[in-house]
Amino acid sequence: MKPMIRYTGTIAVTAMVAWAVAAYLFGSSSADAQPAPQPQSQPQAIEPPAPKVDGPGSPPVATSNAGAEAGSAAPSELPARTIVEVSCDNATPATTFTGPVDGEVATDSIVKFALPPSVDIIPDSQTSAGLEVKAGRTKCLKFTKDGVFLFHSSTKQRGAITARQWYDILVNKQVDDLKGGNFWMPKAVNLTADDSDLMYYAVLGLSIFFFFAIAGAVVFLVVKYRHRPGRKPEPSPAHNDALEITWTVIPTIICVFLFYYGWTTYVRVVTPPTKAVEINVLAWRWNWQFTHSNGVQDSDLHVPVNTPVRLVMTSKDVLHSFYAPVMRVKQDIVPRRYTYAWFFPTKPGTYRLTCAEYCGTNHSQMGITNDGRRAVLVVHEPGGYERYLADKAAQSTKLPPVDLGKMLYEKKGCNACHTTDGSARVGPTWKGAFGTMVPLTDGTQVKMDESYIRESMIYPQAKSRPGFPPSMPSFEGQLKENEILGIIAYIKSLK
Ligand code: CUA
Repeated sequence: MKPMIRYTGTIAVTAMVAWAVAAYLFGSSSADAQPAPQPQSQPQAIEPPAPKVDGPGSPPVATSNAGAEAGSAAPSELPARTIVEVSCDNATPATTFTGPVDGEVATDSIVKFALPPSVDIIPDSQTSAGLEVKAGRTKCLKFTKDGVFLFHSSTKQRGAITARQWYDILVNKQVDDLKGGNFWMPKAVNLTADDSDLMYYAVLGLSIFFFFAIAGAVVFLVVKYRHRPGRKPEPSPAHNDALEITWTVIPTIICVFLFYYGWTTYVRVVTPPTKAVEINVLAWRWNWQFTHSNGVQDSDLHVPVNTPVRLVMTSKDVLHSFYAPVMRVKQDIVPRRYTYAWFFPTKPGTYRLTCAEYCGTNHSQMGITNDGRRAVLVVHEPGGYERYLADKAAQSTKLPPVDLGKMLYEKKGCNACHTTDGSARVGPTWKGAFGTMVPLTDGTQVKMDESYIRESMIYPQAKSRPGFPPSMPSFEGQLKENEILGIIAYIKSLK
C-alpha cells in the first residue's frame, strides 16, 4: 500500500509539472508573438511642390476649372473633371472645412468649404483644378476620383486634400488595438475570446505562484539543512501520508479546472457555427489575399460586426500564420491544405492583423503598403460590410488600366519585391524597365515587352534574371485578363 501511495504521488507530481510546462508554453505563445507596438506611419500627403509662382499678385499655376479642356497641361491624365461643384442646398456634407487645412475626404461624398473672410483656396496645379473657393464664401465640392489635391491660399498657407474611397479611409486609420487592454494583450472584441483570456491568466498566475513557491522552498531547505561541521546527516523519512495526499489532491483539482476550461474553450474555438460569413484567405511571400463571396479581393480583411466569420486559409508557398490579437485567433496557414479560423467580432473598428510565422526576409513586412501601413482587420458597422462589397466590386470594374495596375501593385503584394522608384529589392524594379533588353541567367537577353511581363507573372521561373532569387510565386489563375493588362499598363507608365 505504501509504495502505491508513493508511486501515485510521484506520477501526480510529474504529470502536474508536465501539464504546467505544456500549458505554460501553449498559453503564453500568443503573448510572445505579439508584435511590439509600432507606430503606424500614416500615409503622408505628398509634399507640396516648391512654389513656382506663388507670390501674392502673381497668378497661381492654374485657377481655371477647365482641367479637362484640350490644350491644358495634361489632358490625357484627366479624362473627366475630378473635382466638381455641387449645390449646397439640400446636401448633407460629410466634412466641413473652415480654413485652408490638410484634410481627408471620402471620394464621391460632399465636402463643404466655409471660409472666413480673410482666406481663400487656390488650386496648385491642373490636378487640383476645381479646388477653388473665394475668401469668405461657402462652396460644396465633390471629389470623384482618389488622389491628393494640393492647394494654397493668398495668405501663403499650403494644404492638401486627400480623397479616398470611404473604406480606404477606414483601413488607413490608426489601429484601435492599443486603446484599452493591458500590458499583455489588447482588449478582446471576439465573443468567444473571454474564456481563453481566463485560461491565459489562470495559467500565468499558477506558473508565477508555483515558481516562487518551489524556488522559495528549495532556497529555504538548502539553507536550513546545509552541512555543518560535526553534524551527521539524519536519515530521510521514507514517506509522509498527509503530505503525499496533499500534493496529489491539490494538483488534481488544478488540472481538472484547467482541463475543463481548456477543453470547452478549445472545442468552441475550433467549431465555427454553420451560418458564418465565409472568407477565403490566400497567403504568400509577402501578402494576404482575402476573397469574399461576391469575388471581391483585398489585401485587408473586411468583416461585418456581430456576425460569425469563418476563414478558409491556404498558402501559395511556405508556412504563414494568421494572427488577429484582438480576436485571440492565431492559426497556421499551410501550403497544399486548408486550415480554418473563426471569430465573432463585437465592436466595429480597425485592428492589427499580422503574420505570426517566420516566412522569409519580409515576414515582418507581410501585407505592407507603399505608405508603410500594414494590412489591417476592419470590422464594419452594421450594413458597412455589404456596402464595402458592392462599392469595391464596382470600383475595380470602372478603374482605367493604369490605376487598376497601380492598385493591384499593392493589393497583390508586388510591392513586397518590386519597387517603382528604380531601386532593386528582392526582385527587379519596374521603373523604366518596359522596352529595355534584360539579361537572363542563361546568358541570353529578352526584350521586356507585354509577352515577357505576362509570362513572368504566370511562369515566374521560365526566364529568370541573374542577381534575383527565383522565389516569385506564380499568379496563374489569380489575375483576371483585365488585371494582367492593368499591371502591364502600370509598368509601361513608369518611365
Ligand atoms: Cu507570412 Cu510571416
